Amino acid sequence: MKEWLKRVEKAENLEELETLRIQILGKKGIVSAQFIKMKTLSNEEKKSFAKELNEYKDSFIKAINLRKEILELALSSKILKADKIDISLFNSKGNRGALHPVMDTMDRIVDYFVSMNFSIKTGPIIEDDFHNFEALNLPKHHPARDMQDTFYFKDNFLLRTHTSPVQIRTMLKHKPPIRIISPGPVFRRDFDLTHTPMFNQVEGLVVEDEDKVSFSNLKYMLEDFLKYMFGDVKIRFRPSFFPFTEPSAEADISCIFCEGKGCRVCSHTGWLEVLGCGLVDNNVFKAVGYEGVSGYAFGLGVERFAMLIHKIPDLRSLFEGDLRLLEQFK
Ligand code: DAH
Repeated sequence: MKEWLKRVEKAENLEELETLRIQILGKKGIVSAQFIKMKTLSNEEKKSFAKELNEYKDSFIKAINLRKEILELALSSKILKADKIDISLFNSKGNRGALHPVMDTMDRIVDYFVSMNFSIKTGPIIEDDFHNFEALNLPKHHPARDMQDTFYFKDNFLLRTHTSPVQIRTMLKHKPPIRIISPGPVFRRDFDLTHTPMFNQVEGLVVEDEDKVSFSNLKYMLEDFLKYMFGDVKIRFRPSFFPFTEPSAEADISCIFCEGKGCRVCSHTGWLEVLGCGLVDNNVFKAVGYEGVSGYAFGLGVERFAMLIHKIPDLRSLFEGDLRLLEQFK
């Protein structure tokens, strides 16, 4: 009997194991043969013999089941190994994916500023009132807070309405010189043809000693950047207002749909507004404990850039994941 147990433990494959199972437990197997033998024994002997035999039968069943599990496991891992998919293999059908136009635009923007020696900083999406508003010269009850319809949480937390708070986080952590951009998602309670509750921004900040940074530095940099993004367009800077910059401006490019002649997209002005910028307001420097420095900042919406570059008329189509649109960007 022990000999048979050993053979079960050493069975090399499922077929061999099945043959053994029939030889041991089958109708004409060795266990049945022993039970037949029992007939010739006395009643007293029968009892102990049957007990022993049943114990053997149980241990055979256990051993066979265990071996079966082991062999099946080995077989499936062998099949898995043989079935391995080579994901580096060239896809001859040619249906490859592509970057979403918004991410592609984001990459181009980031590439430009990295080539101009800016480093990339990110910040939390759930911000607090201090970083998103207060330190950016937007005290409580400041009317400009209404410009940004905010999603609020409890305890002064909120979904950041712009990437400008990364300016504050960076200045609180580092001494000048600072030269950063901050790309990432922002959130506002707004949803119509030209607004979505989530969109992406890129913020920029340059800070140096005393009066090293001037408006002409800002203008030079952004003009070069806008030419890089939109090609041969006219650029103008228009006075504007942002609480965190003084003076503030908005940059416009000549309308790429009508080449400045005036059309529906540019509301017949010939110009398209593309970003906000200015020299960092002194109150912002005060809030982070900076003194005797100068700096400029700018902020832009990535979806707007993507729409203008690719002439996509409806902002919402960028969020629908419709393959008929996305497949055009391969
Ligand atoms: N934070 C502004 C917004 O979300 C964009 C902006 C404008 C950022 C001017 C700036 C800036 O840094 O100087 O509308």
